[in-house]
Amino acid sequence: LCVTVCVCVFVCVCFVGVAVDGPNKSTDINGNSMCLIKKKGKVKALDEELYKKDSLDLDEDLPTHFGLAHTRWATHGEPNAVNSHPQRSDKNNEFVVVHNGIITNYKELKKYLISKGYEFESDTDTEVIPKLLKYVYDNRENKAVTFSTLVERVTKQLEGAFALVFKSRHFPGEAVSTRLVSLRRNLNLRRELEWKRLISVSTMCFPRVNSAIIEHTKKVLYLEDDDVAVVTKGELSIHRMNRQAGEDPMRAIQTLQMELQHIMKGNFDAFMQKEIFEQPESVVNTMRGRICFDSNTVILGGLKDHLKEVKRCRRLIMIGCGTSFHAAVATRQILEELTELPVMVELASDFLDRITPVFRDDVCFFISQSGETADTLMALRYCKDKGALTVGVTNTVGSSICRETVCGVHINAGPEIGVASTKAYTSQFVALIMFGLMMSEDRLSHQNRRLQIIAGLKKLPDLIREVLSLNDDIKAIASELYKQKSLLVMGRGFNYATCLEGALKIKEITYMHSEGILAGELKHGPLALVDKDMPVIMIIMKDGVYTKCQNALQQVTARSGRPIIICCKDDSEVSQSAYQTIALPETVDCLQGILSIIPLQLLSFHLAVLRGYDVDCPRNLAKSVTVE
Ligand code: F6R
Repeated sequence: LCVTVCVCVFVCVCFVGVAVDGPNKSTDINGNSMCLIKKKGKVKALDEELYKKDSLDLDEDLPTHFGLAHTRWATHGEPNAVNSHPQRSDKNNEFVVVHNGIITNYKELKKYLISKGYEFESDTDTEVIPKLLKYVYDNRENKAVTFSTLVERVTKQLEGAFALVFKSRHFPGEAVSTRLVSLRRNLNLRRELEWKRLISVSTMCFPRVNSAIIEHTKKVLYLEDDDVAVVTKGELSIHRMNRQAGEDPMRAIQTLQMELQHIMKGNFDAFMQKEIFEQPESVVNTMRGRICFDSNTVILGGLKDHLKEVKRCRRLIMIGCGTSFHAAVATRQILEELTELPVMVELASDFLDRITPVFRDDVCFFISQSGETADTLMALRYCKDKGALTVGVTNTVGSSICRETVCGVHINAGPEIGVASTKAYTSQFVALIMFGLMMSEDRLSHQNRRLQIIAGLKKLPDLIREVLSLNDDIKAIASELYKQKSLLVMGRGFNYATCLEGALKIKEITYMHSEGILAGELKHGPLALVDKDMPVIMIIMKDGVYTKCQNALQQVTARSGRPIIICCKDDSEVSQSAYQTIALPETVDCLQGILSIIPLQLLSFHLAVLRGYDVDCPRNLAKSVTVE
């Protein structure tokens, strides 16, 4: 038996579907058919449906174990079974497709197809693709046209950013995959796959994320934009969309550096929880082989050849989205101090919206856990066009951002499965600090500061463990707060980013309203929110803004606010004004944010559990946002 299964999204979804060759009531003139099953729920629900007695017996009923499977995050339309993928051309399932990305000209195509008598059943942009394929097939002049030629004709009509996998009952045992030039997708092709119960001898898989099938293989081929990959009866061929004779590409098989235990929950209830508790090790992995604590030297291998160029630059621009953007905010001040360069921090979408001026002597950092975030990737291409030096800071080897940047740093935090980013944040933080240390190695005036930070980094794993030991106290705080509607998080200086990131964690998995507030802005508006009922968390560490934070604390308590204060262990002064305290070990000011975010990660986790939500699959969110 030859098995090909295509999995396009890994976690965080509620609607799933699968299409496999036969059996189906209707067949074409050659007796070929396609079975399409879609289901509300997670993969388990689909699995149960597939093996249900009156559904089908995969081992007995299927002439070939060859199919597409998909788990869905809605970009168009409500997440329901009809909108799930695979999307189909018609009730007979002549053509089906799974799609990652967005089709921007779907409205025009839909209008055209409707004028040709096609009826649409879903609200998705994807549905135009199988319908267009059927239209092209029905109107073909050459009856012997190949499946891949049909797919190429259709793909050329599509605009947007997408990776697609097609199947058709007219071409049993065959799947075709493409991706578009304008936005590279993380669509990999793996060999030697075995996929759970569908298998005896397996062959190929097109997954969207590496972790989806690491359990089956570590061998991977990366498809390039405009590649067309065809799997026919277990044989793979790849050619270019606009091929000329002799131009077929060679794509080398690469081996993933990922272990199965990295994508298992182990003794934890959720991936997010596991990832929070992995941080003592993940930060070590970020530093491993890069910091020598004996000689106090820091070398980032992926950057060292470009160091001279970086040192000569006009400014550093740090670009990212969400948590990755917060890592840039968190390290901006120390990077300004150590590099003596202006550092801009930019949300990728806003950076693009503003058509921000970028120059050849700028150095632009693209920070992204997945390495696939569409806005960040588009910003990267924009900066590349302007001639700036591009640097990737990602957690995903082989990702689009990795491959398209000139140089970079892998943060080596290990796979992050929980949608809410936790260990990637602290590892991005550490990686950016290491960059600052490397840049300042030959600056005499910075030596004491460097030594202080390097010593702080050495102790970091133990201090993180100490913070994690506060888990039960934080759970108790969560049990007081979980029925609240809102939660404000205030701080300034090195911990402003902690406020933004903590508030993001809370809103995305607990669905409570939460805002990260710069304490210096309190009097300019947010103070109006404070009263005895509004839960407020304040971060007050013994750093350069300590006194200013104490002022903010007074403003809050004067309005009958009852702050929960994250402060240093021995700070009796601040603790006196606190409703509750979360006392942390003290470290170097610029590293304190690595410790102070952990209580907020834990708090958001416990709040979400107490509120009854699925921590790893927050509603409406996906792990990797590959559409703008
Ligand atoms: C929040 C979160 C997101 C991501 C953002 C960027 O917990 O995970 O805000 O940080 O979508 O993703 P990456 O880092 O993959 O570019």
